[in-house]
Amino acid sequence: MASALRIALRNQTRAAFPRTSVRTFASARPQTLKERLAELIPQEIENVKAIKAEHGKKAFGQVTVDQVYGGMRGLPALMWDGSVLDAEEGIRFRGKTIPEIQELLPKAPGGQEPLPEGLFWLLLTGEIPTTEQVKELSADWAARAAIPTFVEELIDRCPSTLHPMSQFSLAVTALNHDSAFAKAYQDGISKKDYWGPTFEDSMDLIAKLPNIAGRIYRNVFGTGKLPAIDPSKDYSHNLSTLLGFGDNEAFVELMRLYITIHSDHEGGNVSAHTGKLVGSALSDPFLSFAASLNGLAGPLHGLANQEVLLWLRKMEKTIGENASDEQVKEYIWSTLKGGQVVPGYGHAVLRKTDPRYTAQREFALKHLPEDPLFKLVGQIYNIAPGVLLEAGKAKNPWPNVDAHSGALLTHYGLTQMQFYTVLFGVSRAFGVVAQLIWDRALGAPLERPKSFSSEAIKKMFADKQ
Ligand SMILES: CC(C)(COP(=O)(O)OP(=O)(O)OC[C@H]1O[C@@H](n2cnc3c(N)ncnc32)[C@H](O)[C@@H]1OP(=O)(O)O)[C@@H](O)C(=O)NCCC(=O)NCCS
Repeated sequence: MASALRIALRNQTRAAFPRTSVRTFASARPQTLKERLAELIPQEIENVKAIKAEHGKKAFGQVTVDQVYGGMRGLPALMWDGSVLDAEEGIRFRGKTIPEIQELLPKAPGGQEPLPEGLFWLLLTGEIPTTEQVKELSADWAARAAIPTFVEELIDRCPSTLHPMSQFSLAVTALNHDSAFAKAYQDGISKKDYWGPTFEDSMDLIAKLPNIAGRIYRNVFGTGKLPAIDPSKDYSHNLSTLLGFGDNEAFVELMRLYITIHSDHEGGNVSAHTGKLVGSALSDPFLSFAASLNGLAGPLHGLANQEVLLWLRKMEKTIGENASDEQVKEYIWSTLKGGQVVPGYGHAVLRKTDPRYTAQREFALKHLPEDPLFKLVGQIYNIAPGVLLEAGKAKNPWPNVDAHSGALLTHYGLTQMQFYTVLFGVSRAFGVVAQLIWDRALGAPLERPKSFSSEAIKKMFADKQ
């Protein structure tokens, strides 16, 4: 990034977040995330009250019958603070683009990619944490990382033929056994205090995901005994170690970038919305996030990263490696003519190349420019949008995040594509629980939109033009 932009960004951040707001006092230990949240929550409650008082009765969209039948596309219906998705520009996490967070968030010593710990802090507070605060978060998550023995046994008893996402969802559901929120609710906690145990459960959930993911990976693919979490290492480093790639610094950097960019994509996508919906019934964060995972496991959502690799491998088998542009084009047409989607392309909101794709492409250009699979992914990028445009159905012919991630993981030896969506799931927890904590803090109500039968819709418009 040009240094003028870097300086401008830094100044902007310093102006928005004076150092006093992220520290208790000069020589004391850094302020924790929970302490900072406790300060922010009363202010935000007042902020939301004021918004509702001033604008509560105003409309900012209309509902068409097409939207009711069409998956509610574009319907303005949800509150979500962590990130906002612009159709043309892509995602901004609390107002910051991916290049901006790559620049601003703390890094590991010698690292260049942002630490997801910092992203979590940003999602929750809108503020950039200090390096010490991020270090404390890494240590806190490492301390909470152990999973109960019965959950280990539950995972160990799953047949290796059970999809890793199903195992993941089972294990996360079972963590509800020790939910602080569920217990506090049973004990009669007051509504204004809901956010505290929700925060504790959310921290536990994020912390335990590497042990769950690592155990599933090693069981299913027979890659040996699970090592222990190292309390001196950051989250992504520990996750990489548990998967067997901790010695490869480039893979660890990839995980830092991967978790960061997959963490959140505003509130309407299937996994985010499902987590929020289930959480609105006051289901604890484990139950809510397990529901998110079941949505993420669908091929039109997170499972697309597995589907992309399957499709690439099938393509290589059919037309061979180093195929010509013409052969690749023909293969894409054959997919469409077979009534299938081109995985990794299209998006319900985006109308441009996904900046999460671009961030991964830049990582590949830096670390693995000569990788054959990366080259194929790049070749498809030059061809598929033209084919999809010519086919004339997809509103967005450009690649999304899933078009690229599998090629990067494959390069470093993580070739088991059935596992890819688990890594997406580990990442998506960050965004889902950040919003759950705020929903509890702001006293968000039960979600209950109105549904209509086709008969009712016909009657509604019977006497109208
Ligand atoms: C992501 C996705 C589900 C969005 O769906 P959407 O909002 O309904 O998309 P559109 O409005 O552009 O869909 C219009 C039509 O184009 C089709 N279309 C969209 N993307 C397509 C793709 N990549 N390949 C082929 N057809 C596609 C849709 O299936 C739909 O067909 P239909 O009218 O026969 O039902 C869709 O683009 C898709 O299936 N992509 C491939 C799977 C994928 O990569 N998912 C990960 C998303 S992050």
